[in-house]
Amino acid sequence: MSKKIHKVAAIGGDGIGVEVVDACLEVLDALAERDGGFEFQVENFDWSTERYKRTGEFMPKDGADQLRAFDAILFGAVGAPDVPDHLTLWGLRLAICQPLDQYANVRPTRVLPGIQSPLRHVNKDELDWVIVRENSEGEYAGQGGRSHPGLPLEIATDVSIFTRAGIERIMRFAFKLAQSRPRKFLTVVTKSNAQRHGMVLWDQIAAEVAKEFPDVTWDKMLVDAMTVRMVMNPASLDTIVATNLHADILSDLAAALSGSIGVAPTANLNPERETPSMFEPIHGSAFDITGKGVANPVATFWTAAMMMEHLGEKPAAARLMQAVETVTADPSLHTPDLGGKATTRMVTDAVIAAIRGRND
Ligand code: IPM
Ligand code: MG
Repeated sequence: MSKKIHKVAAIGGDGIGVEVVDACLEVLDALAERDGGFEFQVENFDWSTERYKRTGEFMPKDGADQLRAFDAILFGAVGAPDVPDHLTLWGLRLAICQPLDQYANVRPTRVLPGIQSPLRHVNKDELDWVIVRENSEGEYAGQGGRSHPGLPLEIATDVSIFTRAGIERIMRFAFKLAQSRPRKFLTVVTKSNAQRHGMVLWDQIAAEVAKEFPDVTWDKMLVDAMTVRMVMNPASLDTIVATNLHADILSDLAAALSGSIGVAPTANLNPERETPSMFEPIHGSAFDITGKGVANPVATFWTAAMMMEHLGEKPAAARLMQAVETVTADPSLHTPDLGGKATTRMVTDAVIAAIRGRND
């Protein structure tokens, strides 16, 4: 039987992004070997701030188009202390997400075995969320500008864009995802008390789309009150949908509540599969620990499990998540972000051993 081939573009990017992507490629190999039904064809790209400093560009002009030839993109992180963050973000990450129309950003949060949530009385089943982040417009639409630099009249605007098409598609995606989870429950995050145009349209379309999903229960939360609910009553939440910026902020809170940003994964999906989707850890390039070999690779492994699911390799995805959870359950395999002393190497080896060791 011929093996299925999955073409993966690997972009380590900056800082620990390179370290965790390298670790992840080893894990993917072990997974393919263990499964036997598929293999990866990986191409590495050096697109990064380093490249920008050398050539003036984070990636070639046709970079996003080059990626269309792949089935998935595995991304590390972008950002460096000596280059302004808005350049790195727009030069690489958004320069991929936006042209490839990866409009649904999915961020699962759970308290993995062996990891302690900073919420004292939360047991692990009480915090099991998926945040859906609108990933193409809203506050990250890139509309705005600056005029009269340096003058007292200097002005800068960032205009949030909300379109009917953009809201409808993310709401449909979020309701569908909520429907696929046991609780069938969606919370729509908004700020329509203060933002009386875009966010009112957001609420209105949420209510319209909800009618297509009569079996999904939903409620609505103002984003400020949402932070309180996430901390005080995590069990009352399941699937969550929010705008680009709101979900950016809430997903950091969610990651912290799950025990460490070092374990939080994300998928930038084009649900229609017209373009490849991109999988990355939520954490950034973390130059403070770069080169020390202590980056937590778990977020990247978890996002790789999401990638495997997306590629249709469900048993391999489940095997990888099982292996990750076996490893997190052992505190001697916790990296410093989790209060432990383990290295990236140790965690990677342990995950690979767990993948090889399982017989089911
Ligand atoms: C994220 C990150 C990025 C974002 C940063 C690196 C600009 O925080 O993916 O959540 O705001 O989108
Ligand atoms: Mg963020």
